[in-house]
Formats: sequence, structure tokens, C-alpha cells
Amino acid sequence: MAHPWPAWQEYTQFDAATQDEDFADAKIAIINEYGIEALQQSWLKVCSELSIVTQEIASKGSDIIPIFDSNQILAKGFTHQQKDAAKSIGAFVCKATISSDDATDLYSDLKTYLDNNKGRIPAWPKESPSMLMLYDSPVQNELRTHPRHLRLQEKLNELWHDSTGETSSAPLIYLDGVRDRAPGQEFLGLGPHIDAGSLARWVDPSYRHVYHEVFSGRPEQLDIYDLGLRKDARQDLYPGIAHSSVLRTFQGWTAFTPTCSGQGTILVYPNASWAIAYVMLRPFFCAPTDPDQIMNASKWTIDRTSAWFPGTVKADSQRLSRSSHPHLRLEECMVAMPPIEPGDTVWWHADVSGDRSGNVSAMDLANDIQVCHAVDTRHDGTQNAAVAYIAACPTTPINKAYVQKQLAAILQGRRAPDYVEDGDTLDERTLVGHCGLHDIDAEGRRAFGFELEVQ
Ligand SMILES: [Fe+2]
Repeated sequence: MAHPWPAWQEYTQFDAATQDEDFADAKIAIINEYGIEALQQSWLKVCSELSIVTQEIASKGSDIIPIFDSNQILAKGFTHQQKDAAKSIGAFVCKATISSDDATDLYSDLKTYLDNNKGRIPAWPKESPSMLMLYDSPVQNELRTHPRHLRLQEKLNELWHDSTGETSSAPLIYLDGVRDRAPGQEFLGLGPHIDAGSLARWVDPSYRHVYHEVFSGRPEQLDIYDLGLRKDARQDLYPGIAHSSVLRTFQGWTAFTPTCSGQGTILVYPNASWAIAYVMLRPFFCAPTDPDQIMNASKWTIDRTSAWFPGTVKADSQRLSRSSHPHLRLEECMVAMPPIEPGDTVWWHADVSGDRSGNVSAMDLANDIQVCHAVDTRHDGTQNAAVAYIAACPTTPINKAYVQKQLAAILQGRRAPDYVEDGDTLDERTLVGHCGLHDIDAEGRRAFGFELEVQ
């Protein structure tokens, strides 16, 4: 990173979570199921591979992030080479998903909408509101259902696979908010985190099984693109505002304005499989007391008894820090997305860490990272950094059930289920300029869940 590491929290001490027996139970259950030998075997392999992975990231910086042309992806799909790059890095940019002019016009419309509804739309943080808890505006709905955007979402869903026949790559829409961040706004809240649940990854049987190969001593066989394994995982096993109920194959945002490093963009850890394998193994090992030996994986010892899961808090996303996850070398390896233009889209896998984004909530601002990700703490640009959070969601039983509830909620002016805990009760139907879903075309209506059978 070009600037000093922000004052993000370090997870070095046992915290309140150690009091909760669910943590210790999860650790014991996994040790009993897989055995210490397999865990140790995996630990050594993962740390060894990370030393290679992190070397490459540190030398390439942001250049390691793949950049794709949306026109090509939409017309011909990903080439084998592009597919490999997208999947191994787990984060990428799609240029000109919609045209720059269209994105700029939509931003102008959004600003008008915000002006016409001044004081009515909740936003965080209170001292410099930039995360807007706005979900059902005409601009957001137009973007989400834009034919090119929907087709791209489907292409991204197709990067996953499933042999069960219970899912499809047809995109469903997951309502999320907007970020509109003025220049000069500091934003410390969103440190490195991984969304899609925290302790649930170890406790929920379906979710734990996603990482079966890691616990079995075969981390090189981990497949984080197996939708058949992942479709039943309960990300929201422990309720919390930070957890989405749906599986997003890739979280994402669509840029309204240009942005680049140091100007309010997202930082990601540009590796998916090895980083999440490390995070999953980390609670089972104690660091050596000699600080000079920290990077020597063979000096770490099995932790059978403590209930400490570094950076794991039930109700929040999985957090990471330099001291608790040293082999990730976060300071060198959290890289900013390359320069982004209006209409470009940015995507990151559900296991990638970064600065906080995703569900826009008060909790997000208290701390935030997926393919481990984080949000730039600085915004030194000259214009607002504005994005709409729009993810790629495949059709799965859990996602369908959520989308049905989501649709019923917004048609009745209520918050979608994942945002109810935010506590505000704004009925967006009462906002000036609200137009609902009347103008959405057939494909958009399908993605919104209009065609789903009532269950
Ligand atoms: Fe996030």
C-alpha cells in the first residue's frame, strides 16, 4: 500500500468470544473429526504455499488484479486463461459493464433523488454519512436489472459449478445499498474482513464441509467454486447485521464515478483459496513465543483447548489483522483495485477478504474484509467516490427463499429481511420519485423473484 497501514484493530488477545462455549465446541469437534495430524499437514502446506503466493502479490501489487472487457465476456464468455485468473485471484474488474455516459447520467439522477429526499435516508457514519441505507431507488433498480448487468451476473455465476441439479446460474437480485463518499472523508471502519458469515464456517455442518479438504490435510484440493457444496451453507447461523442470508458467488459494486487507490476504493487480498484455507486453520494453532520464529510454520503448535478464534465474532464478518494472521502479510498483500471508471464493475469472491463493504450497516462501520477485502481509509480525490453494491447471486434454494421474502417486503414498503435489524423503518415508497418495480422488464422481474412459486 502506498500509505501507512491504517489504525485497524489487531486481534492479539483473547476476547469476549473465549467465554462462549460454541467456539471451544467447534474446535474440539473438528479436531475429533479430522485429527491433529491432518490439520498439521495442512497448516505446513498452506503456510508454505502462502510464502510463494504472497511473494507474487507483493511484487505485482494491484497489477495482479485481472481486468476484463465486459463486451468480450458478454459476447464470448471467459477464455480458459481468463477463467483461471479470475478464479485463482478471486477478485477482478469488468470494464464498461454499462457505458460511462449511462453511469454518469444515473449518478446525476441518484443525486437528484437524494436532494429531493434530504434528511430522510439513513446513512452512516453519523459524522460523515456516506453509506446510504437506500435499497429500492429507481437508479439502483435500473442498474441491477440492466440487461448487460444481469447477463454479466449470470456469467459470473457460471464460474462456479454444481452437479446436484438443485441450482442454476440464473441471477437473483439481492438488495444492497449505495456508497457516496465525499473527498476528504476518513473512513476507518472497514478493515480487513471476509463476509458470508464468521463462526458459521466452522460450526454449520454444510459450511464446514466446504472446507473438508483443508481439514483433511489436502488444502490443494479445496474447491471454493463448488456450488453444490456451498448452496446449503448457513451464513447467517448466528444472526447479525453483517451477515447476508444469501450466497453471493461474487460480491460486487458498480461505479458511478472514477476512483483509484487512495480515493475511496476497495482493497482486496488477491488470492482466494490459500487465504481462506489459512483462515480456517488458524484457530487450531498457537504462535511460537519467539517473535523471530513467527513466520516459521513448523514452530507453531496445536491449540487443542483455547476457545480463541482470532478475529471471529459471531455477529460480525470474519476479521483479519497483521498480528493474528501473519502469514497473509496483509500490509504488503492488501492491494487496491486498479483505476475504475464510471460503469465499470468490481467483483470479489465470497471468501476473499478486503475492506468492509457488502451489507451497508452500522456494524460495517465498526469494523470490516471477503476474498479478504477492506475499504480505503482515505479519499484524497476531488470528486465523490460513489458505487452501488450489486452482487452476483445464483439461484439456490436458500437464495430463492430469501428473494421471495425480500420482494414481499419491498412491495409493502418494509426493509428487506437482512436490514431489519438496522432499526430504521423508512418506507421507501414514500420517497419523492420512488417508482417501485413497475418499469422492470421480464428478465428483471424474474431476477427479483416475481416468477417464483410462493412457498
Ligand atoms: Fe465486506
